[in-house]
Amino acid sequence: MSWSSPFLRRPLCITVLVLASCFSAAYSGAQDADCLKCHEAILKNRPVVHGAVQMGCSSCHSGIADATIPHKTTTPRGLLAPQPDLCYGCHDKTLFTRKNVHPALALGCTACHNPHASAKPKLLSAEVPDQCEKCHSKAGFSLKNSHVPVAGGMCFSCHDPHSSDNMAMLLKPMFELCTECHDQVTKRPHAIAGFTQSGHPLGQVRKDRIGKDIFPPDDPLREGRPFSCASCHFPHSSDFRKLFRFEARSTMDLCMNCHKY
Ligand code: HEC
Ligand code: HEC
Ligand code: HEC
Ligand code: HEC
Ligand code: HEC
Ligand code: HEC
Ligand code: HEC
Ligand code: HEC
Ligand code: HEC
Repeated sequence: MSWSSPFLRRPLCITVLVLASCFSAAYSGAQDADCLKCHEAILKNRPVVHGAVQMGCSSCHSGIADATIPHKTTTPRGLLAPQPDLCYGCHDKTLFTRKNVHPALALGCTACHNPHASAKPKLLSAEVPDQCEKCHSKAGFSLKNSHVPVAGGMCFSCHDPHSSDNMAMLLKPMFELCTECHDQVTKRPHAIAGFTQSGHPLGQVRKDRIGKDIFPPDDPLREGRPFSCASCHFPHSSDFRKLFRFEARSTMDLCMNCHKY
C-alpha cells in the first residue's frame, strides 16, 4: 500500500529541517552519534527506523542540547511538544481528527507506535491484529465462523486505525463497504427473496421523489445504530451460520427477532 505520502504534511517543512541538519551536519551529526553512544538501546534489534530519527534526535528532543547527566530539560523528556501535537508537526493532523476518532488516540500515539524504531512494520509495538487485541477482546474475532478478512487479520480492509467520517472508523459507509466485496447482494433480492421481489432494505441511503436523502431507521435491537448489514450479520465472527447475529435455524427464525407476525 502506498498511501504513506499523504500522511506527510508540509514536505517543505521537512525539506527545511533536512537541509538544516545538512548545513549543521558536523555539529548535529556528531551530537546524534553522541546521543546514541549512551542510548543505542532505542534502536537495537529494531530495523524499522522512524524517518524523524534520521532527521536528528533534536527534531523532537529539542530541549536536550547537552550531554550532562542527568540532562537539563526544559520540557518533559526534552520534547518539543506533548503528543499528539509533536507528531502533527510533520504528519497531517486532518487524518487523525475526522468525525469519529479512535478513543485509543487519547492515550497518545505511543500507545501503538514506538517513536524511534521497531521490529514491526509502521513502528508498531506489535503486529496487527495482536496490536488491537491488547485492548479489544480476542473473543469477538474468534467465534466458530470467522469472516474471511478478519481471519486474515485484515482489520484495515474495513477500519482506519486513527479516525474516519463514518461510524466505527469504517473506511466507507457500511453499505458501500460491504457491497464492494459482496456486489451479488445488490444484484438480487437479499434476505427475503421468497417474500417479495425487492428484497429487504439493507441500510442504504435512498432518495425520495424530489431527490432528498432518506436515511435508514435505527436498528430496532441496537439503539443509536442505524439499521444496516451489521443488524443481521456480525462483521467479525459468529457462532451461527452466515455470520448471523442470531441463532436462526430457519430464515423465519431470523425475521422474528425484529418483526412480530
Ligand atoms: C519523532 C520524535 C522523536 C525523535 C526524532 C526522537 N525521539 Fe526520543 N522520544 C520521543 C517520545 C515521544 C518519547 C517519550 C515516549 C513515551 O513517553 O512513551 C521519547 C523518549 C526517549 C527516551 C526515554 C526512554 C524511552 O525509550 O522512552 C530516550 C532515551 C530518547 N527518547 C532518546 C532519543 C534519541 C537518542 C533520539 C535520536 C537518536 C531520539 N530520542 C529521537 C520522541 C522522539
Ligand atoms: C553520557 C551518556 C548520555 C548521552 C551522551 C546522552 N544521554 Fe540521554 N540519558 C542518559 C542517562 C544515563 C539517562 C537517564 C538519567 C536521566 O534521566 O537523566 C538519560 C535520559 C535521557 C532521556 C529521558 C529523560 C527523561 O526525562 O526521562 C532522554 C529523552 C534522553 N536521555 C535523550 C538524549 C538525547 C537526545 C541525547 C543527545 C543530545 C542524549 N540523551 C545524550 C545518558 C546520556
Ligand atoms: C520531524 C518530523 C517528524 C515528526 C515530528 C514525526 N514524524 Fe513520523 N515520520 C516522519 C518521516 C519523515 C517519516 C517517513 C515517511 C515516509 O516514509 O513516507 C515518518 C513516518 C512515520 C510512520 C510510518 C513508519 C513506516 O515504517 O512506514 C509512523 C507510524 C510515524 N511516522 C509516527 C509518528 C509518531 C507517532 C510521531 C509522534 C510521536 C511522529 N511520527 C512524529 C517524520 C516525523
Ligand atoms: C490504536 C493504535 C494506534 C494509535 C493510538 C495510533 N496509530 Fe498510527 N497506525 C496504527 C496502525 C495499526 C497503522 C498501520 C495501518 C496500516 O498498516 O494500514 C498506523 C499507521 C500510521 C502511520 C503510517 C501511515 C502509512 O500508511 O504509512 C502514521 C504516520 C501514523 N500511524 C501516525 C500516528 C499518529 C501521529 C498517531 C497519534 C495521533 C497514531 N498514529 C496513533 C495504529 C495506531
Ligand atoms: C490502547 C488501547 C487500544 C488499542 C491498542 C486499540 N484500541 Fe480500538 N478502541 C479503544 C477504546 C478505549 C475504544 C472505545 C471503547 C470500545 O469501543 O471498546 C476503542 C474503539 C474502537 C472501535 C470502535 C469505534 C467506534 O466508533 O465505535 C474500533 C473500530 C476500534 N477500536 C478498532 C481498533 C483497531 C482496528 C485496533 C488495532 C489497530 C485497535 N482498535 C486498537 C482502545 C484501543
Ligand atoms: C469486513 C469488515 C470488517 C473487518 C475486516 C473488521 N471489522 Fe471491525 N467492525 C466492522 C463493522 C461494520 C463494525 C460496526 C458493527 C456494528 O454496527 O456494530 C465493526 C466494529 C468494530 C469494533 C467496535 C466494537 C464492536 O464490536 O462493535 C471494534 C473494536 C473493531 N471493529 C475492531 C476490529 C479489529 C481489531 C479487526 C481486525 C481483527 C476488525 N475490526 C476487522 C467491520 C469490520
Ligand atoms: C475485503 C473484502 C470483504 C469485505 C469488505 C466484506 N467481506 Fe464479507 N466476505 C468476504 C469473503 C472473501 C467471504 C467468503 C467468501 C464469500 O462467501 O463470498 C465473505 C463472506 C461473508 C458472508 C458469508 C459467510 C458464510 O458463512 O457464508 C457474510 C454474511 C458476509 N461476508 C458479510 C459481510 C458484511 C456484512 C460486510 C460489511 C460489514 C462484509 N461482508 C464485508 C470478504 C469481504
Ligand atoms: C434482514 C437481515 C439481513 C440484512 C439486513 C442483510 N442480510 Fe445478508 N443475509 C441474510 C439472509 C437471510 C441470508 C441468506 C442465508 C441463507 O442462505 O440461508 C444472507 C446471506 C448473506 C451472504 C452470504 C451469501 C449469500 O448471498 O447467501 C452475504 C455475503 C451477505 N448476506 C451479505 C450482506 C450484506 C453485504 C448486507 C448489507 C448490504 C447484508 N447481507 C444485509 C440476511 C440479511
Ligand atoms: C435486525 C432486525 C431485522 C431483522 C432480523 C429483519 N428485519 Fe425486516 N425490517 C427491519 C427494519 C428496521 C425495517 C425497516 C427498514 C427501512 O425502512 O429501511 C424492516 C423492513 C421489512 C419489510 C418492509 C420492506 C420495505 O421495503 O418497506 C419487510 C417485508 C421485512 N422487513 C421482512 C423481513 C423478513 C421476511 C425478515 C427475515 C428474513 C426480516 N424482515 C428480518 C428489521 C429487521
